[in-house]
Amino acid sequence: MDITTKQSLVFSVNGHRFEMCNVDPSMTLLEFLRYQTHFKSVKLSCGEGGCGACVVLLSKYDSVSDKVEDFTVSSCLTLLGSVNGCSITTAEGIGNSKDGFHPIQERFSGFHASQCGFCTPGMCVSLYAALVDAEKTKNRAEPRPGLSKLTVSEAEKSIAGNLCRCTGYRPIVDVCKSFASDVDMEDLGFNSFWRKGESNEVKLSRLPRFDRNDAIRVFPEFLEKEATAGANMDSQRCHWYSPVSLEELQSLLHMGTSVKIIVGNTGTGYYKELVHYDNYIDLRYIPELSVIRKDPTGIEIGAAVTISKAIETLKEENEGEFGKEGKMVFEKLGDHMEKIASRFIRNSGSVGGNLMMAQRKHFPSDIATILLSVDTIVEVITSQSRLKLTLEEFLGRPSLDSETVLLSIKIPCWEPSTSVSSDAGNKLLFETYRAAPRPLGNALPYLNAAFLAQVSQSPTGFMLKSCRFVFGAYGTKHAIRVKEVEDFLNGKLLSSSVLYEAVTFLETLVVPEDGTSTPAYRSSLAVGFLFEFLSPLIDSEHERFGKTDCPTLLSSSNQKIRFKNEYYPVGEPVTKTGAILQASGEAIYVDDIPSPKDCLYGAFIYSSEPRARVKGIKFDPDSSPDGVVSLITCKDIPGLNLGGITIFGTEPLYADELTEGVGQRIAFVVADSQKNADIAANLVVVEYDKENLEPPILSVEEAVERCSFYKVPPSFYPEQVGDFSKGMAEADHQIHDAQIKLGSQYYFYMETQTSLAIPDEDDCMVVYSSTQYPEFAHNTIAACLGVPGHNVRVKTRRLGGGFGGKSVKSMAVASACAVAAYRLHSPVRVYVNRKFDMIMSGGRHPMKITYSVGCKSNGKITALKLDILIDAGMFVDESPIMPSYMLGSLRKYDWGALSFDIKLCKTNLPSRGAVRAPGNLQASYIAEAVIEHVASYLSMEVDSVRNINLHTYNSLNFFFPSSAGEPLEYTLPSIWERLATTSSFYDRTNMVQEFNRCHKWKKRGISRVPIVYEVMMRPTPGKVSILRDGSIVVEVGGIEMGQGLWTKVKQMAAYGLGLVKCGGSRDLLEKVRVIETDTLSVIQGGLTAGSTTSEASCEAVRLCCNILVERLIPLKEKLMEKVGPVEWEALIVEAYDKSVNLSASALYMPNFSTTQYINYGAAVSEVEVSLITGETTILRTDIIYDCGQSLNPAVDLGQIEGAYVQGIGFFMLEEYLTNSDGLVITDNTWTYKIPTVDTIPKQFNVEILNSGHHKDRVLSSKASGEPPLTLAVSVHCATRAAVREARQQVLSWGGEKEAGSTLIQMEVPATMPVVKELCGLDSVQKYLQWAFGKNLG
Ligand SMILES: Cc1cc2nc3c(=O)[nH]c(=O)nc-3n(C[C@H](O)[C@H](O)[C@H](O)COP(=O)(O)OP(=O)(O)OC[C@H]3O[C@@H](n4cnc5c(N)ncnc54)[C@H](O)[C@@H]3O)c2cc1C
Ligand code: FES
Ligand code: FES
Repeated sequence: MDITTKQSLVFSVNGHRFEMCNVDPSMTLLEFLRYQTHFKSVKLSCGEGGCGACVVLLSKYDSVSDKVEDFTVSSCLTLLGSVNGCSITTAEGIGNSKDGFHPIQERFSGFHASQCGFCTPGMCVSLYAALVDAEKTKNRAEPRPGLSKLTVSEAEKSIAGNLCRCTGYRPIVDVCKSFASDVDMEDLGFNSFWRKGESNEVKLSRLPRFDRNDAIRVFPEFLEKEATAGANMDSQRCHWYSPVSLEELQSLLHMGTSVKIIVGNTGTGYYKELVHYDNYIDLRYIPELSVIRKDPTGIEIGAAVTISKAIETLKEENEGEFGKEGKMVFEKLGDHMEKIASRFIRNSGSVGGNLMMAQRKHFPSDIATILLSVDTIVEVITSQSRLKLTLEEFLGRPSLDSETVLLSIKIPCWEPSTSVSSDAGNKLLFETYRAAPRPLGNALPYLNAAFLAQVSQSPTGFMLKSCRFVFGAYGTKHAIRVKEVEDFLNGKLLSSSVLYEAVTFLETLVVPEDGTSTPAYRSSLAVGFLFEFLSPLIDSEHERFGKTDCPTLLSSSNQKIRFKNEYYPVGEPVTKTGAILQASGEAIYVDDIPSPKDCLYGAFIYSSEPRARVKGIKFDPDSSPDGVVSLITCKDIPGLNLGGITIFGTEPLYADELTEGVGQRIAFVVADSQKNADIAANLVVVEYDKENLEPPILSVEEAVERCSFYKVPPSFYPEQVGDFSKGMAEADHQIHDAQIKLGSQYYFYMETQTSLAIPDEDDCMVVYSSTQYPEFAHNTIAACLGVPGHNVRVKTRRLGGGFGGKSVKSMAVASACAVAAYRLHSPVRVYVNRKFDMIMSGGRHPMKITYSVGCKSNGKITALKLDILIDAGMFVDESPIMPSYMLGSLRKYDWGALSFDIKLCKTNLPSRGAVRAPGNLQASYIAEAVIEHVASYLSMEVDSVRNINLHTYNSLNFFFPSSAGEPLEYTLPSIWERLATTSSFYDRTNMVQEFNRCHKWKKRGISRVPIVYEVMMRPTPGKVSILRDGSIVVEVGGIEMGQGLWTKVKQMAAYGLGLVKCGGSRDLLEKVRVIETDTLSVIQGGLTAGSTTSEASCEAVRLCCNILVERLIPLKEKLMEKVGPVEWEALIVEAYDKSVNLSASALYMPNFSTTQYINYGAAVSEVEVSLITGETTILRTDIIYDCGQSLNPAVDLGQIEGAYVQGIGFFMLEEYLTNSDGLVITDNTWTYKIPTVDTIPKQFNVEILNSGHHKDRVLSSKASGEPPLTLAVSVHCATRAAVREARQQVLSWGGEKEAGSTLIQMEVPATMPVVKELCGLDSVQKYLQWAFGKNLG
């Protein structure tokens, strides 16, 4: 059959027509948009469908129905070939600076919902798509003007698959809700549109106006007339086919070349294919595969139908078509499918693609499990025949060959009448289950299940007549029916003892394959779910298991903020500089800078051996990677082999002869595109030799044995506090040598490490780097190139998140590009992929802590001793700061005496960095763990032990002699009390107890924790220049990475220059522009980290302004004498005419009394734990935080909420697992789970205290970037309290009681398996034994 391949691809992007011939079929839509158009709003963050940064809206015209369909897709997985005839809308297409912004974008800015902004365009597109969808929804009441048809619940869910690492999601949810027809304006959080007390009508009128026409897509006319079918295209090496019949398909399959069948191509998000195919076959245009057919026997769905379409079909009102039970089954299937991936994946991922992944590659599919439970039939076509199989047969066959195509599935309609008997008391029961780290999906399940049962009721109880119990995704080849358990239960009258036997049997059948993580947990989930399904049939009073009484998403929030305008506009909640450009995607990050001509791209090769000689680096002989230009190793470095400098030492750019740790950079492949460089790096084979080498050090214990430590300079090692022996002697009780271990955490900035180096004349190099430390990046590059410092210029405008990860580690990325550019005489750039970013970044310091503590009988601690072994990894990085940073938070309580020995272990593991709140986070946890230990040892309430050990001002002064400040500055006691009142802590503690008395399978816990967090100011430069037209340019050392530094700096410049007090000087804010950091323009920029760079940069700017004001005032006075009142612009023109120097620079230097200070705050968190799954839901969090006199309360609020949520990630979700060599294996969005909108507190209340004057602070302000992160320990503590209740409950079923002194050590992060294991993997069995024992008794 002849299928022409000489068609071109036609589509539009934001209304612009594109026609392409010669398309490489493996090119993704993202690659096209980012590298071949100027639409850069589409961000690359994971490249695997797991983050939403790349989401675009796709619109398709169907000429038959004359309708346009609009839906989101992830452009990183969508192949360009599949967008033929489509109209693509990116964030720039929704609104932009030229054509006007969309209200979504304006609201993102006004609700302070964009920090680093890297997630924002994707968020905007997701919300926009929801608005577009809502407008098309029929049978909905007309909303009030200014609102959409969207409901609050849909609005919140619209961004469920989009990750944001900065904001903590609350303000983003507010933006979404602000469009919803049923929004209560009172529920919307702090924003720049209205002030407190205004009526709801006024509030609505103040929002940037939403006209519902803004959500109506106009499909480009030129596309309507063009291709409605798929294209058949050619490129130089391969072809793209869109067959329109099965015959065409089969002839293509028989061509004998390598073929890739695709529908949505989302499967490559999981199975990252590096294989090259000759032909791509798009199945979407074959009618048999797109069918959706309903008849009374069931629903037929074509294999190419998307999951979203399938959901729509299953949940559609089926008037008269199916009976009640049939509808119920379809609806529940649809509900379950809504938890698969995220909307933008479901919109393109097909049902057939999912099942084929399950069949061929054992993908842990949800669809296979739920469809197996309802006896689905599949139809396939092989090279010989077309046949129908049960799903069970289909899944059970060996992997189907590449010529077999799944055509469709048929889900039968279930009614009680289809059962073995048709007694009157017959009932059909159907439920599906899944336990996953995130409730709303975008997380693969630990196990899923679906149960269908026909039961009949008699006076003696319920009897199972026939049932299908299916389990999947638990580490099995494919979903299975547990027929043995079905047979056991069929025909039996249900009772506790029957159920006990059934679940005990089940546990032996649902057993994960070797190598699956947490196997016992997964088996226990199977037991739990079956119990959950059947127990209501035994016990009519049975507690409901679902989380019906707590919402899935943020339900309410409250922000209390007081501000003063003493230093106007400093202190105002000014919206973030550039937020709206971030929302439209016009803000420029390093990777958005267009590639210069002849630009090359690099990718790192890393060591997979912790300690070995590198004998050779070459490409796999069977591979011939495309486009490779060079392989750069340490031998190519013209100067020193330097990949990073800190004040403590250096690290090499590439391993020289010997690798020092797993993940170490050993070379840099340079190719003609980023994709080719990445592919080539994967094909490199490194030859190692380990002969006669000492074994590597892979643990802190081994480091101790071999005395392998980094030195901590004495000035960085804090003093011991008090006399430990004396404190111990005073104690009534002593606990000795208790141990805690803490693991790592990855930064997970949305923008990975990136750099662009451009050679300039005379051996100079300009490097655009996404760095928090341009000054030292500059020094590193100069040293590597062997050129004087003035030959190098490092520029940084903004980062897509930093969190400490772009300080030292960014230097190697910048230097690698610079060295390659130098060698190859071409610009070289790199955008590090997520996997390598995780490998190279090292993350938070893991540590092992041994402590001994003494206390009085009333809980007062008299002495604490800590031995801490920190794994610093293969290079020193900034690790020597750890002891002092840890002590900054370890001293949060009055321990009486505090003795410590902190060792920095040098291991052959990845070199660790300073992740947001370095050391402090671990220290806060250690402090709380000690308090919890003492409380459980003494059988006391934990909160009263905290209370008695909180510092008095005197003890604070004793523990923090150089930073305690004045007594009035010690605000913690008042915060502590105030929070108890505002959060109704004591009442809720009683309510939690009551809840726990009444509930068996859910337990709650509540916990209040303080922050005492010491920070340090560092010297920081600034430069302010006034241009002839009165506009102002500011440069600072600090880097804008989402924390609002530029915004605060702008406010300070306006305030500082406003002191000239002339006409218009109160309105200077709009005249100020902060520009990118340039290491040759402002030197000594230092490092942006440690929470204080914003205020230090502000202070530097204030000093510059003082100089300028001093120069301007005499001039102003003279002018006023001559002409009366003077306007700012006139004054500046006069200054130019009089040659007054209107540029000033300054280096802010903190002095003894301004260097260090302490931040205070407190949080109460309440959680609910499920004993069945181990899932923890954070019901509510209340925070009070003291920002001094906040420089910008909106910015600080964002920092507090965002930091707190990042802390939740550390304590509850982010599992940083490594192999035995220390290489991180949770290195992608499939396995590394940061918080999402469905995992944040359901009620989230934050109050910013405005605590008066602090004379040693910058305009009385205090830091907010890191300290609030440590408050998330309250969630862990509350979970521990709930787990304690759960254990008591489970033990009581066994007739035992846990001794009060038993400490529950709960791992960090307290993931679902951890919590469940502590609650008791056999809780269901224990309960059933107890229940039938009780009945017998
Ligand atoms: C971020 C993310 C999260 C996810 N989460 C979940 C989840 O929680 N639960 C879950 O069940 N799934 C999940 N998935 C999987 C998702 O459902 C599948 O990726 C999707 O359904 C595959 O459909 P597709 O059309 O994109 O397939 P493609 O990627 O186009 O194809 C997948 C594979 O199947 C083959 N293929 C496709 N159709 C056919 C056919 N008709 N006949 C023969 N071979 C065919 C292709 O050749 C390819 O090998 C997730 C996916 C992503 C990317
Ligand atoms: S980059 Fe596409 S989903 Fe993450
Ligand atoms: S603002 Fe969302 S990732 Fe930074």
